[in-house]
Amino acid sequence: CLWIRNFALKKRLPGPFAWPVVGNAMQLGQMPHITFSKLAKKYGNVYQIRLGCNDIVVLNGDVAIRQALIQHSTEFAGRPKFISFQLVSGGKSMTFSNYSEQWKMHRKIAQSTLRAFSSANSQTRKVFEQHVVAEAMDMVQSFLRLSTDGHYFNPSHEFTVAAANVICALCFGKRYGHEDPEFRTLLGRVNRFGETVGAGSLVDVMPWLQFFPNPVRSVYQNFKNLNNEFFAYVKDKVVQHRDTYNPDITRDMSDAIISVIEHGKNITLTKDFVEGTVTDLIGAGQDTVSTIMQWILLLLVKYPAIQAELQEQIDKVVGCDRLPSVEDKANLAHLDAFIYETMRYTSFVPVTIPHSTTQEVTIDGFLIPKDTVVFINQWSVNHDPEKWQDPHIFNPSRFFDENGALNKDLINSVMIFSTGKRRCIGEHIAKTEVFLLAAILLHQCTVESNPSEALTMDCSYGLALKPLNYTITAKLRGKLLGLVS
Ligand code: HEM
Repeated sequence: CLWIRNFALKKRLPGPFAWPVVGNAMQLGQMPHITFSKLAKKYGNVYQIRLGCNDIVVLNGDVAIRQALIQHSTEFAGRPKFISFQLVSGGKSMTFSNYSEQWKMHRKIAQSTLRAFSSANSQTRKVFEQHVVAEAMDMVQSFLRLSTDGHYFNPSHEFTVAAANVICALCFGKRYGHEDPEFRTLLGRVNRFGETVGAGSLVDVMPWLQFFPNPVRSVYQNFKNLNNEFFAYVKDKVVQHRDTYNPDITRDMSDAIISVIEHGKNITLTKDFVEGTVTDLIGAGQDTVSTIMQWILLLLVKYPAIQAELQEQIDKVVGCDRLPSVEDKANLAHLDAFIYETMRYTSFVPVTIPHSTTQEVTIDGFLIPKDTVVFINQWSVNHDPEKWQDPHIFNPSRFFDENGALNKDLINSVMIFSTGKRRCIGEHIAKTEVFLLAAILLHQCTVESNPSEALTMDCSYGLALKPLNYTITAKLRGKLLGLVS
């Protein structure tokens, strides 16, 4: 047992008293990341909790987290053998598999393919940008259509479709309309993925619960069904690619991944890793981007004066005859600050995907054995009062120094993509996408909240924190540009 080993070998890991059978599961509450931060005040930034039959080390605060994930990057690069993790991407997920030579190869293939289709050179950057602009304009049209006669609508589906279309265009060379019923239903289900794999999910720490009738059992069943359904959908597309594969023409990322895994030299991954990789990328690329867009919109309607200020800067830099582009980013510092503050303030991926230790490691003087589950509390980094003045206040101007320039150090202190060996591989794509979607939306529309709803920052917990349903209306500013058919 971890307690005894630490007692014998080094400092004993502190932590709350754990009850038999459930451990501390009943103490996590609705928002485990807040509970973790409260416990850190009492026990320090490195402590232990027990969930079901798992001893779990929780890491909090900038220093402890960077020390673990950067200085001991290999030791903290594992993933636990949770039952839910085996259900993802047909059991061939890179994201949810443990650290190994095979995982390293898998991650390298996924990462270099993403780069090749988004940022490898000016040509790929341009093509990627065009995909995003097309989606942004389709989304704007949807917003305006749904706002006819001052109607209020829930924007979450439109963001889901826009984000999914960007990654589907990269993976399959195909996008889907906002009205496509099959696509909308599928995405609606995938949206619920994060409920199960978020840190503290009971399915994984008390797997025996699935054998008795209880709410956890249905969460597990739903998770299993949504993964099977999503994987079948992606697999079907990959099989079509395999059947029509031509080594001389790379149509999209599916072709590129088939080429490396099935026809590359010295690759030890079997061909079913192709569908595993594509499923991973679509899953990861869709839910995160659509969730941050929901938060961005909510904050824009909550702070109309900030919205007007952003539009003023966009109008000055871009004018009204063309759409904002990636080249404008350097001159749109206010929008950049707004996006970083949204990431910091909401910390919408509050805890990373659970990690595990790949070997015994000492952190802060505490010995942590191999195969220990580790939760990384990103929220605590972004709300540390030592680092951030009034961390609970939404204030994009905190990122500007006294000369009005963006403070790069402070921007780099925001932790939402994690760090170390498991750091998100979609960071560049995500930042470009979010910037363009937000810039184009603000350039083309003014968005307003529904006066009959209370604007709340309340959210549901999971791998990503999602705002509760809200509705808005959008009004066209000037003329509609860059129409897509
Ligand atoms: C992993 C955040 C967008 C692909 C992760 C992790 C976080 C994260 C916190 C877990 C890291 C860890 O466990 O330590 C985000 C955020 C995004 C975003 C906040 C958007 C704003 C994307 C996109 C893609 C992507 C667009 C791909 C198209 C991945 C993959 C992993 C990952 C494949 C697994 C990495 C691994 O396990 O080695 N992301 N992500 N993400 N992300 Fe993202």
